[in-house]
Amino acid sequence: MTTTPIIIDCDPGVDDAVMLMMALASPALDVRAITTVAGNVPLHLTSRNARMMCQIMDRADVPVFAGCPRPILRDPVTAEHFHGDSGIAGLDPFEPDAPLAAGHAVTHLIDTLRSAGPAEYTIVVTGPLTNIAAAIVMAPDIALGIDKLVIMGGADSEGGNITPFAEFNIFADPHAGAVVFDSGIPATILNLDVTHQVRAEPERLTSLRALPGLRAAIMVQLLEAANVLEARWKEGRMTPMHDPATIAYLLAPHLFEARKATVSVDTEAGMRFGQTRVSALDEGPHTWVTKADADGFFALIEELVGKT
Ligand code: RIB
Ligand code: CA
Repeated sequence: MTTTPIIIDCDPGVDDAVMLMMALASPALDVRAITTVAGNVPLHLTSRNARMMCQIMDRADVPVFAGCPRPILRDPVTAEHFHGDSGIAGLDPFEPDAPLAAGHAVTHLIDTLRSAGPAEYTIVVTGPLTNIAAAIVMAPDIALGIDKLVIMGGADSEGGNITPFAEFNIFADPHAGAVVFDSGIPATILNLDVTHQVRAEPERLTSLRALPGLRAAIMVQLLEAANVLEARWKEGRMTPMHDPATIAYLLAPHLFEARKATVSVDTEAGMRFGQTRVSALDEGPHTWVTKADADGFFALIEELVGKT
């Protein structure tokens, strides 16, 4: 089987943790490194949580590099209300055996991509785009080593989730978003318009709970905890599968529909700060994902974590 070399940049975060379980379980993905960024919770926690998930998935072979501790320009914003103070609601936090890899995540991204083959890597990004933007500004030539970015972020028809207009990852560092979307590196964008179509509904969890093994049980714990936190904001609403959508797209693009688009970010202070502005025409450098097959999405998850 040919495997896809990927680096995952994330801010675990409960849905990041579910995404990491999928990626680390997949024989089709060659996870070369995980880089962490401040986002849902502060950097020391996103970094601890990423290492926790590597240990849970018996993947201590994957190095975890800590990255930027704050956004480029705006004041930091976090999302403990959706992820718990630990950032990993549903699990009892522990100090993983494997330490953080030495060196800054941005340095690792630059060194790795500069020594990569042409378009060798897919970069999955499920947190604020700070690390990616920093790497691009410091070393624009890294674009040569990137096949595409697969980003969870933004919103168009769905509106925002942290403000009425902005999605959290972009809102948490809009200036980084602007750098990345203007960089010329093609991005496939799993945005709220599509992630809100795939939610951890009770029947999905019932089906996951019936699977053998510890991994499915751990994923259910994470998603049940996320549903409790989500319901505090809107009674009866189940947590969307935001970050897992990036891996589902990589492994099963046939489950999705998308169009070409130009994407920009509102970086002016005001009520639309962090809003993604998406071109109406079906043209542009990026792939704006618009639709998902939720049944196929969860069947994929069960295939990935249902074996052990
Ligand atoms: O808006 C959803 C995104 O913000 C997800 O990546 C979630 O983990 C939070 O970071
Ligand atoms: Ca995230």
